[in-house]
Amino acid sequence: MSLVESGKKKIEWVSRHMPILNTIKKQFEKEQPFRGKKITICIHLEAKTAYFATVLKAGGAQVVATGCNPLSTQDDVVEGLRSYGVTVYAKHSATEEEYNNDLRKALEQQPDIILDDGGDLTAIIHHEMPELIETLYGGTEETTTGILRLRAREKEGQLKFPVISANDAFCKYLFDNRYGTGQSVWDGINRTTNLIVSSKNVVIAGYGWCGKGAAMRAKGLGGNVIVCEVNPIKAIEAVMDGFRVMSMEEASKIGDIFVTVTGCKDVITKKHMENMKDGVILANAGHFDVEINKQDLAAVSVEKKTVRDNIEAYITKDGRHLNLLAEGRLVNLAAGDGHPAEIMDMSFSIQALSLKYINEHHGEMTNKVYNVPEELDRYVAGLKLKTLGVSIDRLTEEQEHYINDFME
Ligand SMILES: NC(=O)c1ccc[n+]([C@@H]2O[C@H](COP(=O)([O-])OP(=O)(O)OC[C@H]3O[C@@H](n4cnc5c(N)ncnc54)[C@H](O)[C@@H]3O)[C@@H](O)[C@H]2O)c1
Repeated sequence: MSLVESGKKKIEWVSRHMPILNTIKKQFEKEQPFRGKKITICIHLEAKTAYFATVLKAGGAQVVATGCNPLSTQDDVVEGLRSYGVTVYAKHSATEEEYNNDLRKALEQQPDIILDDGGDLTAIIHHEMPELIETLYGGTEETTTGILRLRAREKEGQLKFPVISANDAFCKYLFDNRYGTGQSVWDGINRTTNLIVSSKNVVIAGYGWCGKGAAMRAKGLGGNVIVCEVNPIKAIEAVMDGFRVMSMEEASKIGDIFVTVTGCKDVITKKHMENMKDGVILANAGHFDVEINKQDLAAVSVEKKTVRDNIEAYITKDGRHLNLLAEGRLVNLAAGDGHPAEIMDMSFSIQALSLKYINEHHGEMTNKVYNVPEELDRYVAGLKLKTLGVSIDRLTEEQEHYINDFME
């Protein structure tokens, strides 16, 4: 199969499993909300995001896409997406320079709206291409890390256009971060290692939404889950959920599989690596490739070799193999296909409606980070229930009065 054929097949497959987005696509085709508008998206370029890009195009937008992580870009999907008339600047395993140049090229169309995942596009606009700000309506941000960076920028008064935090929609983080990451992290680890999880000590660093999902599914696979946290409240939550909680210092001595999902850097460093058992699996599903310190891995080892696709063994002086998956980048994307389509159906429906919202309301918006309007969240949740064939109760008028009176 040619690259383009393979990419198109992947895109067609996911399109059959994204019913909410299909409903929105039909609306967009009819209403053409983005007619004449330019949208630049920076996102993990795999089949679901590619299908999402075609939905924006169906709404009349001129879409330029670029990847937000060189290892998650799938070259066949890029070709497939191009065949749908979307301009794409991305390739798998691009060097840092190539990657940044692709972001710049994607911005050269002078977008009216951007979609960012992790904040790289936003950083380039602010620091290198500020001339774009004048005509930019605003943007959306897909993930926790990007939002943290945006809020820091906003706090310093340095955010120069309005952004909607798609990540903070209930229909995003409750499902995407928890159930999406929960499933796809284990899909990535299992298909890459072909080893059993059951009976192993699985160390999850970070008990946020992603960590909760990863821990829950590790337990389901029979792993003995250990959680490492820095937030005492999250740590109690993990204890109450039935997991052992300890410092990474302690966990590093007994863990078999380590998964970092903190959004922070240097979660696993030299002092932990020195404690680790032979054969440990190190995977990151959090932020870029900085959670497991790769310089430290190199420092504690005398040799590094590729032992299986996407697995590098760092071999220590005393002969221990510390196995790093996917170069320490997001394991579910760099060594898997990312979240299941049904999960991304919700996330991208939130994104599509948020982009439409910015297109229609940018005149009233200021340079702030906005939450997704609640009505959009509820609309997507309603559509999701419909696709699941689930009906729920409605408040009667009397009940509504009762609740409101009670609240007063
Ligand atoms: N792999 C994916 O597909 C995917 C999907 C969504 C989000 N993410 C990324 O995963 C990361 C976590 O996202 P989230 O939504 O769970 O965030 P979150 O803020 O809900 O959770 C992060 C948790 O990590 C803890 N933490 C921070 N630094 C730590 C450290 N040094 N050691 C131990 N714990 C620490 C925090 O206290 C917090 O509880 C982010 O970087 C986000 O961008 C990845």
